[in-house]
Amino acid sequence: MINIAILASGSGSNAERIITYFKNNKNINISFIITNKEDAYVRKRAELLQIPCLFFSNKQLKSNHFLLSVLQENHIDWIILAGYLLLIPPEIIQAYTNKIVNIHPALLPNYGGQGLYGMNVHKAVISNKETESGISIHYVNEKYDEGNIIFQAKCNITETDDAESLAEKIHLLEYEYFPKVIESLIFQ
Ligand code: GRF
Repeated sequence: MINIAILASGSGSNAERIITYFKNNKNINISFIITNKEDAYVRKRAELLQIPCLFFSNKQLKSNHFLLSVLQENHIDWIILAGYLLLIPPEIIQAYTNKIVNIHPALLPNYGGQGLYGMNVHKAVISNKETESGISIHYVNEKYDEGNIIFQAKCNITETDDAESLAEKIHLLEYEYFPKVIESLIFQ
């Protein structure tokens, strides 16, 4: 059995999609979600999906040893970041080399880095009058959004799009591809 931990700080719609996708998979188990936000909607989703959601403070999650021991004690094999806003401590990156995967809602290396997350990304893309955006699924290293890119998919931006409509297009791409890319990485 492959055990996955999902880390999420926000609404958790990608987390939900991943959990639903792997629900009947006999080889993949979503062990739990970890969040750093006490009021994140992902906690409600986890309750409805009957998946444990562990809440830890930023201080706990930034400490090398704390998070690593939670992951190792629970025999976690893969870590999936789905809208998770904290940096992953270096000790965990070393222990989980090429086993931590993030999704970013733009075509990296553009529109990445600290502060560029969620709607901030889409607002920047729209205000620069880009004609396309997309998703980037990448390995996680010690810097925000700089790990090797595994997969990208694009969408067009029309003149009538705004940050909200772009976010919807991006979410559709995320729901379509993120679980499949995770599955193919695990079984490659
Ligand atoms: C997604 O667009 C993801 O790419 C980004 O943050 C957003 C999280 O959305 N990292 P949700 O919490 O999965 O609904």
